[in-house]
Amino acid sequence: MLNSLKDIIKPGSEEEKLADQIDVSRLPQHIAVIMDGNGRWAKKKKLPRIEGHRAGTQSVQEVVEACARIGIKYLTLYAFSKENWKRPKKEVGTLWKLLEEYLKREDKELMKNDLKLKVIGQRREIPDRVRKELERVENLTQNNHRLTIVLALNYGGRAEILDAVKKILEGKKFNSSSLTENQFSQFLYTANTPDPDLLIRTSGELRVSNFLLWQIAYSEIWITQEYWPDFRRKHVLQALVDYQKRERRFGDVQSSS
Ligand code: FPP
Repeated sequence: MLNSLKDIIKPGSEEEKLADQIDVSRLPQHIAVIMDGNGRWAKKKKLPRIEGHRAGTQSVQEVVEACARIGIKYLTLYAFSKENWKRPKKEVGTLWKLLEEYLKREDKELMKNDLKLKVIGQRREIPDRVRKELERVENLTQNNHRLTIVLALNYGGRAEILDAVKKILEGKKFNSSSLTENQFSQFLYTANTPDPDLLIRTSGELRVSNFLLWQIAYSEIWITQEYWPDFRRKHVLQALVDYQKRERRFGDVQSSS
């Protein structure tokens, strides 16, 4: 079971016990994550907020590796929302810088491990240097297949839906009686990506914060109290064990009744 993960976890550890409970034939295809609590993590440690974001990139690396080894096909990370521009200029600048550094540092690892990078969100407002770097890594990794990492950047769920409506109106191909849900979803930034099966949010907040509003219609939601910088492989496994205990009915009745 989860052989590739077992290569990096300690025999007899809590992680191994969790991994043993996971049924590889029923893994979620797509996990989406609202990474929250970087600021509070830093405050708890009497550090500047940006140190929380820096520590958060470590969690990104660990979660990406865990998902690839477990066999998850898509991992979407909410890294910068359209609302995040309201933060102090210095914090915003640091967030983009951390992302740029991550891309420069990780591009070879992405290639070595067959990982694809994709960006969703309104690209135009992303600082030029970062946008170019993102596009370079998207092009570089476009033929990789093991896991697709989708970074939501300058992303808003309502803006995504509105952008889709605008494209449809501009295209003049559909009328109100012919447009189906499947056709509509092809106009979203996430076209050709399956909807998330599992949505994880860290730091205990009970909100969806304008994230993938259309796509999470039937996602299972798992919330942990851990702040994002403390989120580890163990928590991914806990979320998966919990996910597999649930029965997904998609509005239908229980399968045994
Ligand atoms: C939420 O914590 C986190 C963010 C807004 C940014 C997430 C960014 C990273 C983890 C770093 C770079 C990302 C990549 C993909 C390399 P918060 O600041 O809202 O925390 P708070 O609610 O405690 O203030």
